[in-house]
Amino acid sequence: MSNRTFTMIKPDAMRNGHAGAILDQIIKAGFRIVALKQTKLSLDKAGEFYAVHKERPFYGELTQFMSSGVIIAAILEKDNAVADFRTLIGATNPAQAEEGTIRKKFATSLGENAVHGSDSDENAKIEGDFFFSGLEQF
Ligand code: CMP
Repeated sequence: MSNRTFTMIKPDAMRNGHAGAILDQIIKAGFRIVALKQTKLSLDKAGEFYAVHKERPFYGELTQFMSSGVIIAAILEKDNAVADFRTLIGATNPAQAEEGTIRKKFATSLGENAVHGSDSDENAKIEGDFFFSGLEQF
């Protein structure tokens, strides 16, 4: 099992001024930051990142939203990183997220849900490599 996961702080949380509080909660939960940057996805790049969802009805909305403003992308390290991070952020739909989770506290809606977290070790590696070169991951 890999000990890394990948996250993005999405444009809604950036616009609403939650980036600092979200990073604080992530670090206090025991994750080490392996790599981190603020950037902005073009519509094309957002489409490439979410290519797995291309056939979904929400793909257009998702890629428009994810390219609508700056984001923070980061690779995180901790034992059991993928599963523990998904617990920390809560359910995809903030209405169903547990009390105290990042999405419960900071998300706007199902589509604008404050943060992304990889769903598998394999995707964590693919997603981290999408944003960061090997030289940036340490
Ligand atoms: P994320 O974990 O980043 O990966 C895919 C994203 O698609 C997900 O978060 C949600 O923000 C978004 N998503 C999932 N279902 C819907 C939906 N029904 N409508 C809009 N966006 C959705």
